[in-house]
Amino acid sequence: MRQIKPNIYAVGAIDWDRRLFDELIPLPEGTTYNAYVVKGSDKVALLDTVDPTKSEVLMSNLMALGFDDVDYIVSHHAEQDHSGTIPALLLLYPNAKVVTNAKCKAMLIDLLHVEEDRFLTITDGQTLSLGDKTLQFFDIPWVHWPETMCTYLQEDRILFPCDFFGSHLATSDLFVKDEPLVYESAKRYYAEIMMPFRPAIRKNLEKIGKLKIDMIAPSHGPVYDKPEFILNAYRDWAGDAVKNEVVLAYVSMHESTKQMVEHLTDALIERGITVRQFNLAVTDLGKLAIALVDAATIVLGSPTVLTGAHPKTAYAALVANALRPKTKFASIIGSLSWSGKMVEQLTGLIANLKVEVIEPVVAKGQPKDEDFAALDRLADQILAKHKQIGIA
Ligand code: FEO
Repeated sequence: MRQIKPNIYAVGAIDWDRRLFDELIPLPEGTTYNAYVVKGSDKVALLDTVDPTKSEVLMSNLMALGFDDVDYIVSHHAEQDHSGTIPALLLLYPNAKVVTNAKCKAMLIDLLHVEEDRFLTITDGQTLSLGDKTLQFFDIPWVHWPETMCTYLQEDRILFPCDFFGSHLATSDLFVKDEPLVYESAKRYYAEIMMPFRPAIRKNLEKIGKLKIDMIAPSHGPVYDKPEFILNAYRDWAGDAVKNEVVLAYVSMHESTKQMVEHLTDALIERGITVRQFNLAVTDLGKLAIALVDAATIVLGSPTVLTGAHPKTAYAALVANALRPKTKFASIIGSLSWSGKMVEQLTGLIANLKVEVIEPVVAKGQPKDEDFAALDRLADQILAKHKQIGIA
Protein backbone atom coordinates (compact mmCIF):
# COMPACT_ATOMS: atom_id res chain seq x y z
CA MET A 1 0.00 0.00 0.00
CA ARG A 2 1.41 3.38 -0.98
CA GLN A 3 0.18 6.97 -0.84
CA ILE A 4 -0.19 8.82 -4.14
CA LYS A 5 -1.36 12.06 -2.56
CA PRO A 6 -2.82 12.79 0.89
CA ASN A 7 -5.82 10.47 1.40
CA ILE A 8 -5.33 8.75 -1.98
CA TYR A 9 -3.68 5.34 -1.87
CA ALA A 10 -2.56 2.66 -4.30
CA VAL A 11 -3.75 -0.65 -2.85
CA GLY A 12 -3.42 -3.04 -5.81
CA ALA A 13 -1.04 -5.91 -6.55
CA ILE A 14 2.03 -6.55 -8.69
CA ASP A 15 1.95 -9.82 -10.66
CA TRP A 16 5.62 -10.39 -11.50
CA ASP A 17 5.06 -13.91 -12.83
CA ARG A 18 2.08 -13.66 -15.15
CA ARG A 19 3.14 -14.40 -18.71
CA LEU A 20 -0.18 -14.68 -20.57
CA PHE A 21 -3.40 -12.71 -20.54
CA ASP A 22 -6.65 -14.23 -21.82
CA GLU A 23 -4.43 -17.27 -22.58
CA LEU A 24 -3.36 -15.32 -25.66
CA ILE A 25 -1.52 -12.07 -25.00
CA PRO A 26 2.14 -12.43 -24.02
CA LEU A 27 3.15 -10.48 -20.91
CA PRO A 28 6.97 -10.52 -21.06
CA GLU A 29 7.15 -7.92 -18.27
CA GLY A 30 4.32 -9.27 -16.08
CA THR A 31 1.59 -6.83 -15.06
CA THR A 32 -0.07 -5.03 -12.17
CA TYR A 33 -3.70 -4.86 -11.09
CA ASN A 34 -4.02 -1.36 -9.67
CA ALA A 35 -6.75 -0.39 -7.26
CA TYR A 36 -7.00 2.94 -5.46
CA VAL A 37 -8.59 4.20 -2.28
CA VAL A 38 -9.92 7.75 -2.06
CA LYS A 39 -10.69 8.82 1.49
CA GLY A 40 -13.02 11.77 1.79
CA SER A 41 -14.03 13.56 4.99
CA ASP A 42 -17.32 11.57 5.04
CA LYS A 43 -16.94 8.49 2.88
CA VAL A 44 -14.34 6.07 1.58
CA ALA A 45 -14.29 4.77 -2.00
CA LEU A 46 -12.27 1.95 -3.49
CA LEU A 47 -11.69 2.36 -7.23
CA ASP A 48 -11.50 -1.07 -8.88
CA THR A 49 -10.29 -4.27 -7.26
CA VAL A 50 -7.71 -6.85 -8.39
CA ASP A 51 -7.53 -10.18 -10.17
CA PRO A 52 -8.90 -12.89 -7.84
CA THR A 53 -5.45 -14.53 -7.77
CA LYS A 54 -4.23 -11.45 -5.86
CA SER A 55 -7.24 -10.86 -3.58
CA GLU A 56 -5.18 -11.36 -0.45
CA VAL A 57 -2.79 -8.56 -1.39
CA LEU A 58 -5.69 -6.11 -1.82
CA MET A 59 -7.33 -7.23 1.41
CA SER A 60 -4.15 -6.84 3.39
CA ASN A 61 -3.53 -3.38 1.90
CA LEU A 62 -7.05 -2.33 2.87
CA MET A 63 -6.54 -3.71 6.39
CA ALA A 64 -3.30 -1.74 6.67
CA LEU A 65 -5.26 1.46 6.03
CA GLY A 66 -7.36 0.60 9.07
CA PHE A 67 -10.81 1.48 7.72
CA ASP A 68 -13.77 -0.13 9.47
CA ASP A 69 -15.75 0.15 6.32
CA VAL A 70 -15.57 1.01 2.65
CA ASP A 71 -18.66 2.87 1.48
CA TYR A 72 -18.26 2.55 -2.27
CA ILE A 73 -16.53 0.11 -4.61
CA VAL A 74 -16.32 1.80 -8.01
CA SER A 75 -16.19 -0.70 -10.86
CA HIS A 76 -14.89 0.79 -14.10
CA HIS A 77 -14.82 -2.46 -16.04
CA ALA A 78 -16.39 -5.89 -15.49
CA GLU A 79 -13.35 -7.92 -16.56
CA GLN A 80 -12.03 -10.17 -13.81
CA ASP A 81 -8.61 -8.55 -13.44
CA HIS A 82 -10.37 -5.47 -12.03
CA SER A 83 -13.67 -6.77 -10.72
CA GLY A 84 -12.83 -10.32 -9.70
CA THR A 85 -12.42 -9.44 -6.02
CA ILE A 86 -15.73 -7.54 -5.74
CA PRO A 87 -17.72 -10.54 -4.42
CA ALA A 88 -15.21 -11.16 -1.63
CA LEU A 89 -15.15 -7.47 -0.71
CA LEU A 90 -18.93 -7.30 -0.56
CA LEU A 91 -18.79 -10.02 2.10
CA LEU A 92 -16.10 -8.12 3.99
CA TYR A 93 -17.94 -4.78 3.75
CA PRO A 94 -21.67 -5.59 4.04
CA ASN A 95 -22.70 -1.94 3.71
CA ALA A 96 -20.60 -1.19 0.63
CA LYS A 97 -22.29 -0.32 -2.65
CA VAL A 98 -20.87 -1.15 -6.07
CA VAL A 99 -20.88 2.10 -8.05
CA THR A 100 -21.01 1.64 -11.80
CA ASN A 101 -22.99 2.32 -14.96
CA ALA A 102 -25.97 0.23 -16.08
CA LYS A 103 -24.01 -1.79 -18.66
CA CYS A 104 -21.27 -2.74 -16.22
CA LYS A 105 -23.87 -3.56 -13.57
CA ALA A 106 -25.57 -6.03 -15.93
CA MET A 107 -22.22 -7.63 -16.74
CA LEU A 108 -21.22 -7.92 -13.07
CA ILE A 109 -24.53 -9.63 -12.35
CA ASP A 110 -23.93 -12.06 -15.23
CA LEU A 111 -20.21 -12.67 -14.74
CA LEU A 112 -19.80 -12.50 -10.97
CA HIS A 113 -23.35 -12.96 -9.68
CA VAL A 114 -23.26 -9.70 -7.73
CA GLU A 115 -26.71 -9.16 -6.19
CA GLU A 116 -28.89 -6.43 -7.65
CA ASP A 117 -29.41 -4.57 -4.35
CA ARG A 118 -25.68 -4.03 -3.88
CA PHE A 119 -25.45 -1.51 -6.73
CA LEU A 120 -25.55 2.25 -6.93
CA THR A 121 -26.04 2.89 -10.64
CA ILE A 122 -24.61 6.11 -12.04
CA THR A 123 -24.85 7.83 -15.41
CA ASP A 124 -22.37 9.65 -17.61
CA GLY A 125 -21.12 12.86 -15.94
CA GLN A 126 -22.73 12.12 -12.56
CA THR A 127 -20.87 13.08 -9.38
CA LEU A 128 -20.61 11.37 -6.02
CA SER A 129 -19.48 13.30 -2.94
CA LEU A 130 -17.15 11.73 -0.40
CA GLY A 131 -17.26 14.94 1.68
CA ASP A 132 -14.24 17.03 0.79
CA LYS A 133 -13.58 14.95 -2.35
CA THR A 134 -15.82 14.55 -5.37
CA LEU A 135 -15.81 11.67 -7.83
CA GLN A 136 -17.16 12.32 -11.31
CA PHE A 137 -17.90 9.40 -13.63
CA PHE A 138 -17.63 9.33 -17.38
CA ASP A 139 -18.53 6.55 -19.78
CA ILE A 140 -15.59 5.76 -22.07
CA PRO A 141 -16.92 2.76 -24.01
CA TRP A 142 -14.66 0.24 -25.75
CA VAL A 143 -11.52 0.75 -23.72
CA HIS A 144 -11.64 -2.34 -23.59
CA TRP A 145 -15.25 -3.59 -23.41
CA PRO A 146 -18.50 -1.74 -24.14
CA GLU A 147 -19.19 -0.91 -20.48
CA THR A 148 -15.85 0.76 -19.62
CA MET A 149 -15.97 4.00 -17.65
CA CYS A 150 -13.56 6.23 -15.71
CA THR A 151 -13.52 8.37 -12.58
CA TYR A 152 -12.24 11.93 -12.36
CA LEU A 153 -11.33 13.10 -8.88
CA GLN A 154 -12.20 16.76 -9.20
CA GLU A 155 -10.29 18.34 -6.30
CA ASP A 156 -7.03 16.52 -7.08
CA ARG A 157 -7.46 16.45 -10.88
CA ILE A 158 -6.65 12.75 -11.07
CA LEU A 159 -8.14 10.55 -13.79
CA PHE A 160 -8.67 6.88 -13.02
CA PRO A 161 -9.28 5.35 -16.48
CA CYS A 162 -8.87 1.62 -15.70
CA ASP A 163 -7.51 -0.19 -18.81
CA PHE A 164 -7.27 3.04 -20.87
CA PHE A 165 -3.60 4.23 -20.93
CA GLY A 166 -2.46 1.11 -19.07
CA SER A 167 0.72 -0.87 -19.52
CA HIS A 168 1.37 -4.51 -18.78
CA LEU A 169 4.47 -3.87 -16.70
CA ALA A 170 5.29 -5.37 -13.34
CA THR A 171 7.32 -2.67 -11.62
CA SER A 172 7.90 -1.38 -8.12
CA ASP A 173 7.78 2.17 -9.50
CA LEU A 174 4.55 3.80 -8.33
CA PHE A 175 5.05 6.62 -10.86
CA VAL A 176 6.63 6.45 -14.32
CA LYS A 177 10.41 6.63 -13.91
CA ASP A 178 11.79 4.76 -16.90
CA GLU A 179 9.92 6.43 -19.77
CA PRO A 180 11.30 4.28 -22.66
CA LEU A 181 10.37 1.08 -20.80
CA VAL A 182 6.87 2.33 -20.00
CA TYR A 183 6.43 3.63 -23.56
CA GLU A 184 7.21 0.18 -24.99
CA SER A 185 4.89 -1.58 -22.52
CA ALA A 186 2.09 0.94 -23.03
CA LYS A 187 2.44 0.64 -26.81
CA ARG A 188 2.26 -3.15 -26.61
CA TYR A 189 -0.82 -2.77 -24.42
CA TYR A 190 -2.39 -0.29 -26.84
CA ALA A 191 -1.66 -2.59 -29.80
CA GLU A 192 -3.17 -5.66 -28.19
CA ILE A 193 -6.07 -4.19 -26.24
CA MET A 194 -7.00 -0.78 -27.64
CA MET A 195 -6.07 -0.76 -31.34
CA PRO A 196 -9.13 -2.77 -32.48
CA PHE A 197 -11.29 0.08 -31.12
CA ARG A 198 -9.34 3.01 -32.60
CA PRO A 199 -12.37 5.18 -33.51
CA ALA A 200 -13.70 4.80 -29.95
CA ILE A 201 -10.27 5.55 -28.53
CA ARG A 202 -10.18 8.82 -30.44
CA LYS A 203 -13.64 9.83 -29.22
CA ASN A 204 -12.68 9.03 -25.64
CA LEU A 205 -9.41 10.96 -25.97
CA GLU A 206 -11.46 13.98 -27.04
CA LYS A 207 -13.91 13.48 -24.19
CA ILE A 208 -11.33 13.32 -21.43
CA GLY A 209 -9.29 16.05 -23.16
CA LYS A 210 -11.83 18.53 -21.82
CA LEU A 211 -10.76 17.75 -18.24
CA LYS A 212 -7.86 19.38 -16.42
CA ILE A 213 -5.71 16.36 -15.59
CA ASP A 214 -2.65 16.48 -13.33
CA MET A 215 -2.26 12.74 -13.04
CA ILE A 216 -3.49 9.57 -14.76
CA ALA A 217 -3.75 6.51 -12.54
CA PRO A 218 -4.54 3.50 -14.75
CA SER A 219 -5.30 -0.01 -13.56
CA HIS A 220 -2.20 -1.59 -15.14
CA GLY A 221 1.36 -0.24 -14.86
CA PRO A 222 2.72 2.86 -13.17
CA VAL A 223 0.89 6.16 -12.56
CA TYR A 224 1.52 9.01 -15.00
CA ASP A 225 2.41 12.12 -13.01
CA LYS A 226 3.19 13.82 -16.34
CA PRO A 227 0.02 12.86 -18.21
CA GLU A 228 1.04 14.49 -21.51
CA PHE A 229 3.58 11.66 -21.94
CA ILE A 230 0.86 9.06 -22.44
CA LEU A 231 -1.78 11.40 -23.89
CA ASN A 232 0.59 12.41 -26.71
CA ALA A 233 1.54 8.79 -27.32
CA TYR A 234 -2.13 7.82 -27.63
CA ARG A 235 -2.86 10.76 -29.97
CA ASP A 236 -0.04 9.50 -32.19
CA TRP A 237 -0.98 5.80 -32.07
CA ALA A 238 -4.72 6.32 -32.51
CA GLY A 239 -4.31 9.06 -35.14
CA ASP A 240 -4.51 8.37 -38.87
CA ALA A 241 -0.86 9.03 -39.72
CA VAL A 242 1.21 5.99 -40.72
CA LYS A 243 4.98 5.73 -41.02
CA ASN A 244 7.24 4.86 -43.94
CA GLU A 245 7.54 1.32 -42.61
CA VAL A 246 6.88 -2.21 -43.85
CA VAL A 247 6.08 -5.04 -41.48
CA LEU A 248 7.37 -8.20 -43.14
CA ALA A 249 6.01 -11.19 -41.25
CA TYR A 250 6.90 -14.59 -42.64
CA VAL A 251 7.57 -18.28 -42.16
CA SER A 252 9.91 -20.30 -44.34
CA MET A 253 10.27 -24.08 -44.31
CA HIS A 254 12.96 -24.76 -46.90
CA GLU A 255 14.49 -21.31 -47.43
CA SER A 256 12.59 -20.37 -50.63
CA THR A 257 10.33 -17.87 -48.89
CA LYS A 258 13.28 -16.78 -46.74
CA GLN A 259 15.33 -15.89 -49.84
CA MET A 260 12.41 -13.81 -51.11
CA VAL A 261 12.02 -12.10 -47.73
CA GLU A 262 15.71 -11.20 -47.62
CA HIS A 263 15.63 -9.89 -51.18
CA LEU A 264 12.55 -7.75 -50.53
CA THR A 265 14.02 -6.48 -47.27
CA ASP A 266 17.17 -5.29 -49.04
CA ALA A 267 15.14 -3.76 -51.87
CA LEU A 268 12.97 -1.82 -49.42
CA ILE A 269 15.98 -0.63 -47.41
CA GLU A 270 17.62 0.58 -50.65
CA ARG A 271 14.48 2.62 -51.28
CA GLY A 272 14.69 4.28 -47.86
CA ILE A 273 11.86 2.31 -46.27
CA THR A 274 12.14 1.01 -42.71
CA VAL A 275 11.58 -2.75 -42.52
CA ARG A 276 10.40 -4.59 -39.44
CA GLN A 277 10.98 -8.26 -40.15
CA PHE A 278 9.37 -11.01 -38.06
CA ASN A 279 10.09 -14.71 -38.40
CA LEU A 280 6.76 -16.06 -37.18
CA ALA A 281 8.33 -19.38 -36.18
CA VAL A 282 10.03 -17.65 -33.25
CA THR A 283 8.69 -14.12 -32.87
CA ASP A 284 6.87 -12.65 -29.89
CA LEU A 285 3.42 -11.85 -31.30
CA GLY A 286 3.30 -8.74 -29.09
CA LYS A 287 6.32 -7.29 -30.93
CA LEU A 288 4.50 -7.82 -34.21
CA ALA A 289 1.42 -6.08 -32.77
CA ILE A 290 3.57 -3.10 -31.70
CA ALA A 291 5.03 -2.80 -35.21
CA LEU A 292 1.53 -2.82 -36.70
CA VAL A 293 0.60 0.33 -34.76
CA ASP A 294 2.55 2.59 -37.15
CA ALA A 295 3.42 0.71 -40.36
CA ALA A 296 1.96 1.86 -43.68
CA THR A 297 2.34 -1.59 -45.23
CA ILE A 298 2.23 -5.20 -44.16
CA VAL A 299 3.72 -8.00 -46.28
CA LEU A 300 2.97 -11.59 -45.32
CA GLY A 301 5.39 -14.29 -46.39
CA SER A 302 4.45 -17.95 -46.52
CA PRO A 303 5.26 -21.23 -48.16
CA THR A 304 2.36 -23.33 -49.40
CA VAL A 305 1.44 -26.13 -47.00
CA LEU A 306 -1.24 -28.67 -47.86
CA THR A 307 -2.49 -26.29 -50.58
CA GLY A 308 -2.87 -23.33 -48.18
CA ALA A 309 -0.81 -20.84 -46.19
CA HIS A 310 1.55 -22.05 -43.48
CA PRO A 311 -0.58 -22.12 -40.30
CA LYS A 312 1.79 -19.73 -38.51
CA THR A 313 1.36 -17.10 -41.23
CA ALA A 314 -2.39 -17.73 -41.24
CA TYR A 315 -2.41 -17.20 -37.47
CA ALA A 316 -0.51 -13.91 -37.80
CA ALA A 317 -2.97 -12.79 -40.51
CA LEU A 318 -5.87 -13.67 -38.22
CA VAL A 319 -4.33 -11.72 -35.35
CA ALA A 320 -3.61 -8.68 -37.56
CA ASN A 321 -7.17 -8.84 -38.87
CA ALA A 322 -8.53 -8.83 -35.31
CA LEU A 323 -6.25 -5.97 -34.19
CA ARG A 324 -7.36 -3.77 -37.12
CA PRO A 325 -4.26 -1.57 -37.44
CA LYS A 326 -4.38 1.57 -39.57
CA THR A 327 -2.14 -0.08 -42.19
CA LYS A 328 -2.89 1.20 -45.71
CA PHE A 329 -1.29 -1.38 -48.01
CA ALA A 330 -0.67 -5.12 -47.99
CA SER A 331 0.96 -7.76 -50.12
CA ILE A 332 1.86 -11.42 -49.98
CA ILE A 333 5.01 -13.21 -51.03
CA GLY A 334 5.95 -16.86 -50.86
CA SER A 335 6.47 -20.09 -52.65
CA LEU A 336 4.73 -23.23 -53.79
CA SER A 337 5.91 -26.58 -55.03
CA TRP A 338 3.00 -27.63 -57.22
CA SER A 339 -0.24 -25.63 -56.64
CA GLY A 340 -2.30 -24.03 -53.92
CA LYS A 341 -4.52 -21.23 -52.68
CA MET A 342 -2.07 -19.57 -50.27
CA VAL A 343 -2.60 -16.04 -51.62
CA GLU A 344 -6.40 -16.29 -51.74
CA GLN A 345 -6.50 -17.73 -48.24
CA LEU A 346 -4.29 -15.01 -46.69
CA THR A 347 -6.11 -12.23 -48.53
CA GLY A 348 -9.38 -13.57 -47.14
CA LEU A 349 -7.97 -13.65 -43.61
CA ILE A 350 -7.17 -9.92 -43.59
CA ALA A 351 -10.57 -8.79 -44.84
CA ASN A 352 -11.04 -6.41 -41.87
CA LEU A 353 -8.01 -4.36 -42.84
CA LYS A 354 -8.82 -1.35 -44.97
CA VAL A 355 -5.84 -2.01 -47.22
CA GLU A 356 -5.08 -1.81 -50.88
CA VAL A 357 -3.54 -5.15 -51.85
CA ILE A 358 -0.44 -4.76 -54.03
CA GLU A 359 0.14 -7.61 -56.48
CA PRO A 360 1.58 -10.64 -54.66
CA VAL A 361 4.75 -12.46 -55.74
CA VAL A 362 4.75 -16.25 -55.60
CA ALA A 363 7.71 -18.34 -56.76
CA LYS A 364 7.49 -21.95 -57.92
CA GLY A 365 10.14 -23.72 -55.88
CA GLN A 366 13.35 -21.77 -55.23
CA PRO A 367 13.02 -18.17 -56.46
CA LYS A 368 14.62 -17.44 -59.85
CA ASP A 369 15.76 -14.23 -61.51
CA GLU A 370 12.25 -13.33 -62.64
CA ASP A 371 10.94 -13.77 -59.08
CA PHE A 372 13.63 -11.46 -57.70
CA ALA A 373 12.77 -8.95 -60.44
CA ALA A 374 9.11 -9.19 -59.38
CA LEU A 375 10.14 -8.48 -55.77
CA ASP A 376 12.05 -5.40 -56.96
CA ARG A 377 8.88 -4.24 -58.71
CA LEU A 378 6.92 -4.88 -55.50
CA ALA A 379 9.40 -2.69 -53.59
CA ASP A 380 8.99 0.01 -56.29
CA GLN A 381 5.22 -0.15 -55.93
CA ILE A 382 5.37 0.07 -52.14
CA LEU A 383 7.63 3.12 -52.41
CA ALA A 384 5.25 4.71 -54.94
CA LYS A 385 2.28 4.09 -52.63
CA HIS A 386 4.13 5.56 -49.66
CA LYS A 387 5.02 8.60 -51.77
CA GLN A 388 1.39 8.98 -52.81
CA ILE A 389 0.33 9.39 -49.17
CA GLY A 390 3.26 11.70 -48.44
CA ILE A 391 5.35 9.57 -46.09
CA ALA A 392 8.33 8.78 -48.38
FE1 FEO B 1 -7.38 -5.01 -17.53
FE2 FEO B 1 -9.85 -5.34 -19.84
O1 FEO B 1 -8.94 -5.69 -18.26
